[in-house]
Amino acid sequence: MEQSDWAGTSTDTERPSVARMYDYFLGGSHNFAVDREAARKVIAVAPDAPLIAQANRAFLRRAVRFLVDQGVRQFLDIGSGIPTVGNVHEIAQQLAPETRVVYVDIDPVAVAHSRAILAGNDRARVVQADLRQPAQILDHPDVRGLLDFDQPVAVMIVAVLHFIADADDPAGILATLRQALAPGSYLVLSQVSAEGREDDADLVKSVYRTADNALHPRSRSELARLFAGFDLVSPGVVWAPAWRPETAEQADDADEAVVVCGVGRLGG
Ligand SMILES: C[S@@+](CC[C@H](N)C(=O)[O-])C[C@H]1O[C@@H](n2cnc3c(N)ncnc32)[C@H](O)[C@@H]1O
Repeated sequence: MEQSDWAGTSTDTERPSVARMYDYFLGGSHNFAVDREAARKVIAVAPDAPLIAQANRAFLRRAVRFLVDQGVRQFLDIGSGIPTVGNVHEIAQQLAPETRVVYVDIDPVAVAHSRAILAGNDRARVVQADLRQPAQILDHPDVRGLLDFDQPVAVMIVAVLHFIADADDPAGILATLRQALAPGSYLVLSQVSAEGREDDADLVKSVYRTADNALHPRSRSELARLFAGFDLVSPGVVWAPAWRPETAEQADDADEAVVVCGVGRLGG
């Protein structure tokens, strides 16, 4: 793909983008020198940053398989990122081809590249929007046009909440989304925690302050509180590798994790 196809028209190549830094951690090629430089500064402090990103992606894939297994056929993936190996629609539609997926991201590269890979897929779309404006996401014609909110929807906010400051009221954002959902819907959350790595976190936060989004780590108990109104699915809020691991190797990585995660179900 030519750079002009994925870079979008409003891309800032002077300032690191958290979406493009994450793409670099995952071994992708949709990043610029400024992103690679910032990502390498993170890796200098936290050499396991690429492994942390992979553990998060592995959690996302397991969560999607779990949800399809529970009968969910609609996904709203907010902060979906620059497409990589094993995107939500690929995993879900392989298991259940009728599954409909709307991706949402604020980053123009994430949106442009998603649009390019979704061409020809009439059950998946991408919308450029801001999680901090949840009503705009819920009211967006492309969201309403593909997803039926009278039926269960899985809202995925994976590795995104650490870019939402407490001042932006993450609990209020999640409450707005929850109120739009039918019983049997799910909320999937993961985010970076600084538990046990407070010194590293301060240095990493200083790198992210130079990027388009600052980093706001939260502990497991803080993330658990953000599932208000949902019933946590077993095993609750845990380190990413410990959430329903599919191999012994995944489970073994739980001690070194930095990403906390969980899945909640809306009763009713
Ligand atoms: C670390 S990536 C995570 C991508 C994917 N969810 C995953 O877990 O692999 C974070 C994504 O959140 C997006 N993001 C950050 N703040 C956002 C906001 N306020 N609204 C929508 N997307 C946002 C970034 O552009 C980036 O693509």
